[in-house]
Amino acid sequence: MPDDDTPTTLARRGPRRRYRLGGRRAGSAAVTTPLAKHPAKFSDPVLGEMGRLVRAEVRRAGGRRDYTRPMWLLDPLAGVGRIHTLGMPGRLETVGCEIQQRWALCHPRTLWVDATVFLAWCVRHGITFDIIASSPTYGNRLSDHHDARDGSTRRSYRHDYGEELHPNNSGQLPWGTKYRTFHVELFRLLYDATRPGGLILWNTSYIPKRGELVGVTEFHRGVALATGYIESGYDIRVTTRRLRGVGVTAAQAEANPEGPAATDTRAPYESIIRLRKPED
Ligand SMILES: C[S@@+](CC[C@H](N)C(=O)[O-])C[C@H]1O[C@@H](n2cnc3c(N)ncnc32)[C@H](O)[C@@H]1O
Repeated sequence: MPDDDTPTTLARRGPRRRYRLGGRRAGSAAVTTPLAKHPAKFSDPVLGEMGRLVRAEVRRAGGRRDYTRPMWLLDPLAGVGRIHTLGMPGRLETVGCEIQQRWALCHPRTLWVDATVFLAWCVRHGITFDIIASSPTYGNRLSDHHDARDGSTRRSYRHDYGEELHPNNSGQLPWGTKYRTFHVELFRLLYDATRPGGLILWNTSYIPKRGELVGVTEFHRGVALATGYIESGYDIRVTTRRLRGVGVTAAQAEANPEGPAATDTRAPYESIIRLRKPED
């Protein structure tokens, strides 16, 4: 205690002045609100296909399992939580992880947590999932560190979220070594947290880069196979317009609404890769 901070001098000085924290009055509660704006939600066609595959898996498992316990589906990268629409009361429960608080708040079944931390915790406690269904970030222009204030229509995780992203958010990793390392680690954890015989549905896409298409889909498939998953059917291809406009300024979009330059080489479809963990 400094010399002049004796109980008597403190009492004479009266209560300390209130400090302001980041523009907020000290002591007042911060209210965090859900943020529905997100640059890469599941499109309806992708979610529709996912739903078809998930229902088939629940039916398939129905003949072989004990109905007193529902199956569990995990989306480790849940965004605003569209995956939860696939839940089937009493038969299929869903849970998601999302690292950005305001996106996690969009659905009560999404946990606000780093997926790698949550999965490591599940593995430590022997918790496994029957189905893993997700869409990773693709390492495309949505991962630009972009916070436009010029009225541009460009979208990115950082820009839509409106704040710095968590350091372990893959949404700020462009295609490259760090992107690949993150997903190798993620798949290693996912594998250990998948029930033997369990299904993984992974929605990914090729991405345009310097006029070429990068085989991001093949990278994810390769990592999953190297981790130990085995193929469980052909990829489902979904034609989607979700990537339209990625990396495009308002002026470019206006000049060429049908196919702005930056997305001319976009992939014509996204894929849902289907893999399974071998039975013991
Ligand atoms: C392609 S988006 C998924 C969107 C989701 N399918 C939807 O419909 O809203 C990927 C999400 O993963 C989140 N993410 C990235 N790194 C993460 C991590 N380490 N742990 C949990 N979530 C993460 C991002 O913030 C982003 O919302």
